[in-house]
Amino acid sequence: MTTLRNRQVRLKSRPQGIPQADNFNIVEVPVEPLGAEQILVRNIYLSVEPAMRGWVSDVGNYSEPVAIDAVMRAITVGRVEQSNDPRYHVGDIVTGMLGWQDYAAVTAATIERKVGAGFPISTALGVLGINGITAYFGLLEAGQPKASDTVVVSTAAGAVGSTVGQIAGIKGARTVGITGGADKVKLCTEEFGYAAAVDYKAADFEAALDAACPNGIDLYFDNTAGAISDAVYQRLNVNARVVICGTASVASWSPPPLGPRVERIILTKRVRVQGFVVFDLLARYGEALQQLGKWVKSGELRYREDILDGIEAAPDAIAGLYRGDNFGKRLIRIAAE
Ligand SMILES: NC(=O)c1ccc[n+]([C@@H]2O[C@H](COP(=O)([O-])OP(=O)(O)OC[C@H]3O[C@@H](n4cnc5c(N)ncnc54)[C@H](OP(=O)(O)O)[C@@H]3O)[C@@H](O)[C@H]2O)c1
Repeated sequence: MTTLRNRQVRLKSRPQGIPQADNFNIVEVPVEPLGAEQILVRNIYLSVEPAMRGWVSDVGNYSEPVAIDAVMRAITVGRVEQSNDPRYHVGDIVTGMLGWQDYAAVTAATIERKVGAGFPISTALGVLGINGITAYFGLLEAGQPKASDTVVVSTAAGAVGSTVGQIAGIKGARTVGITGGADKVKLCTEEFGYAAAVDYKAADFEAALDAACPNGIDLYFDNTAGAISDAVYQRLNVNARVVICGTASVASWSPPPLGPRVERIILTKRVRVQGFVVFDLLARYGEALQQLGKWVKSGELRYREDILDGIEAAPDAIAGLYRGDNFGKRLIRIAAE
């Protein structure tokens, strides 16, 4: 019997700021014989997340940093190829934190869930995975949108942002997206149903934001922080809510970046600012997935995928997110479905 070979993308060096291709290397190792209770998963799609920048950083975060020479931490979806656990069978499609590699030998504890039929399996990493769940709970529970709200979303054309905008629309709110470049502005209004979208890279960004939000801003779903958020805070209404979900525009937190102080706005406008981390709601993912699935089926919730081919694409894939290369959820396909 030929030994299976496992290509792994490992963290070679700790990046300063945004991880670049040369912070990773690809090594090939044999797949070891399966241990007791283990399951061998052949990864098919690897996820790429802006949060990976934090996962490889040793600046304080919500999880331990990926160790040097370890396989890059990543959510994946794949097929069970061998199983020593009676709950998992060859052919089952599963998702979990299985890493940027061809094969993962894990126990059931590492598998988040089996992926059911009915949707393309890639969606388990995007709209019907971490991004959709983040949008669902981040908006509905932390943000508590009302039908009368003007809801502004940053990274509006991306995986989380596009879903937040559409859910806010489903709840009756008027939605305004902030994104980079004319093509993404078009994507926001034509595909993701935003009432208006604004290009933060354009010289007239603030004037365009005023025009898009004539009645001010009631809810801001913040995926970027930085200059985009500085502009939004100036336009918040009394009793506005801000959900802080990501900080994509801040290149480094060490040393802490300086910016305008917003406490006076928060005080005088009685703003509620809420940080949100999806992993806190792990026990409730099923609830979000059920509703997201219904919306995808009915066509009320659309999604875009940005698929790179081959594991060789992985090392540069995070930097690409920070260049804004992706249109929708960025994935790497490393095997045929
Ligand atoms: N808190 C949580 O639990 C949680 C969970 C998942 C994701 N998130 C956060 O949600 C946000 C979106 O994640 P995603 O997976 O959906 O990624 P995504 O939006 O599909 O891709 C990242 C996008 O960030 C934007 N971006 C990159 N650099 C930027 C900069 N300097 N200024 C402004 N925008 C920049 C780019 O869009 P443009 O081309 O429009 O600039 C890029 O396409 C991230 O901040 C992520 O960390 C948080």
